Amino acid sequence: MRYRKIDARLFVRNRDRLRKLLAPDSVAVVNANDLMPTNADGTFLMRPNSDLFYLTGVEQEETILLLAPDASNEKEREILFLREPNKRLELWEGHKLSKEEAREISGIQEVRWLSEFAQTFHRRMCEAENVYLNANEHPRAVIEVETRDARFVRWCRERYPLHQYRRLAPLMHRLRVVKDPIEVELLREACRITREGFLRVLGVLRPGMNEMEIEAEYAYEFTRRGARFAYPPIVAAGPNACALHYMQNDQPCLPGQLVLLDVGAAYANYSADLTRTVPVSGRFTRRQRAVYEAVLRVMRAMIRAAVPGKLHREWQKEAELLMFEELVRLGLLRPQEGRNEEARRAAAKKYFMHGLGHPLGLDVHDVGSLREPFAPGWTLTVEPGIYIPEEGFGVRLENDVLLTEEGPVDLMADIPVEPEEIETLMAEARREA
Ligand code: GLY
Ligand code: MN
Ligand code: MN
Repeated sequence: MRYRKIDARLFVRNRDRLRKLLAPDSVAVVNANDLMPTNADGTFLMRPNSDLFYLTGVEQEETILLLAPDASNEKEREILFLREPNKRLELWEGHKLSKEEAREISGIQEVRWLSEFAQTFHRRMCEAENVYLNANEHPRAVIEVETRDARFVRWCRERYPLHQYRRLAPLMHRLRVVKDPIEVELLREACRITREGFLRVLGVLRPGMNEMEIEAEYAYEFTRRGARFAYPPIVAAGPNACALHYMQNDQPCLPGQLVLLDVGAAYANYSADLTRTVPVSGRFTRRQRAVYEAVLRVMRAMIRAAVPGKLHREWQKEAELLMFEELVRLGLLRPQEGRNEEARRAAAKKYFMHGLGHPLGLDVHDVGSLREPFAPGWTLTVEPGIYIPEEGFGVRLENDVLLTEEGPVDLMADIPVEPEEIETLMAEARREA
């Protein structure tokens, strides 16, 4: 593993919390993700199933978690099923988990090989009324392939058509949106590594450098620290910043341009999500700085406003109203365009057209119902931006915050964001070079 062993008490607690949400006489099943094919005999890098990881800490392909809290056979109340290692697997794919290793990672005592799954599952189903199965219910997910979980749902319903089927996803969302202190520590580590990547880039950025060379600097820093990119990095110079999900990263950074860096590390599968926008030449122009400071004021205000009890849509509205004022000050909007709140919000969207932030965790756009009010333990991004294609640049700033009873804690408070600090760090690096 690339990361320090996680305290198994996290996964024990997570399963306990899930059990409390299950109806009596239930079974719940969570499957690993498929290893997705590319072309020929290639596959994408394995991406662990976030729910399975959350409940077990196990990343290995084909793993199945079976929970049956009311099983008459006590040993079968919580079982992890694994691929059975063999010499051939070991030769081609390397080490696979032993039962003892899986026990240690997950805190699950009963670990069996997959060959026993169907029989065991049948016994559990004969006692159960309710079956909780999983699906990707992220509102923005686009799923065109049948996942392992989806195939399992089909298999299960065919064999056991008379059970009561229930959705596991809403329960997982409710649990995962509130972070355990161990998860917060992992997120903090992801933020620390992200900071190192950003500082490295501030040190080496020079006019003429290609966006992909900047991406490579992050990759170097993240990889050597046991992390990976949490999402496809966005390195967008000049007008490229106005394409919100720009990922080409193949253009030169020209003198006088800003470059938007939306790049975060994932450590132990926990994602950081950072955006900074910095001047390629090392100094902001007056105009760039004015826009930058407007975005920074909105980010700061909206971090303060991320408090338990608030609804996401209220928070978004506050940001848009604040942004309207800033856009008027910048001369981008006219005061007359904002006759009422509705008009001010609509006008602000011309330059700030995306969400202010999202839950963050095992997934970068993490699960969690945004219809529920914010609560202590939520982690959110705060990411206002102003995009001005007609002036050839965009500015976004993004920090990650933990919500607590005492107020928001900025997990990225130590990552440079003040324009003077950015300029000073860049000037120092250039002097030293
Ligand atoms: N990096 C993706 C986002 O900011 O939401
Ligand atoms: Mn984000
Ligand atoms: Mn981002």
